[in-house]
Amino acid sequence: MRLLAILCFALFSQLVEAQISEGMSKTLPADHLEKNHYLEFENFRDSPRAPIAAAIKIDGQPVRSIQEIFRYFSEIVGAWLPEGKTIKSKTDSEGREVWNYPIGTRVIHFLTLNDKEKTPFELRMMERVEEGRWAFGVYHLKEGEYKLQNYNGLLQKEFELNHENGKVYNVSLKHIPLQVCQNCHSNTTSAPYQYSSRQDVGPCEFTPANPKVKNDWVKKFLDERGYHPIQKL
Ligand code: HEC
Repeated sequence: MRLLAILCFALFSQLVEAQISEGMSKTLPADHLEKNHYLEFENFRDSPRAPIAAAIKIDGQPVRSIQEIFRYFSEIVGAWLPEGKTIKSKTDSEGREVWNYPIGTRVIHFLTLNDKEKTPFELRMMERVEEGRWAFGVYHLKEGEYKLQNYNGLLQKEFELNHENGKVYNVSLKHIPLQVCQNCHSNTTSAPYQYSSRQDVGPCEFTPANPKVKNDWVKKFLDERGYHPIQKL
């Protein structure tokens, strides 16, 4: 009976996982970010913030505040639209702007270590894989390419960080579980009104609520691609 329960749970977790990342590439080349010119945007809220990892310890000491965590890690957020495609913008009945992102849109949260090489720690990605669904994925750089991860629960890691300040730190942490991405985004997004269901939930800050996306990111996009990324319907 117990074994059956465990097997059912394992199967269920696998299904949940498959759904979360389904439709995303299993691997990406190591130069994926440089080749695809993700254009960085800035967050417009100081909180909520996405967690870097759980139970971070540096030389055995727990590190909790975000300021302290960013002594050891760096992050960027960026977005990429498929060639020639635009975000369709509508106004809802309450006068709020709602975006329909084109299929193939990718938004990233890229975390690196503060060593000289800026070693990738984790590439989080959301991809608009079909109408009504964003897929969530975590990629780790392994054997020269980014591999889509499918661990269950928290993934424990321990490694040495050769900090750019010249010191060596012992880092222990747990990668956040894939199963929590969607839920947390559903609770923290700056534009909950634009998502029709929990499955449809996507970006937290890459939304029409973020003036920095609508100004700076749009300008960068215009410069680089030569057309406006947002089309008003
Ligand atoms: C505890 C809440 C929480 C969890 C869990 C979480 N995120 Fe986020 N995520 C956020 C918040 C808040 C932001 C925006 C602020 C920031 O960047 O810190 C964000 C930003 C992002 C972005 C940048 C684009 C944007 O504006 O949304 C991506 C991509 C992303 N998350 C992917 C993921 C993936 C993949 C997972 C699961 C492995 C995940 N997130 C788990 C809260 C969360």
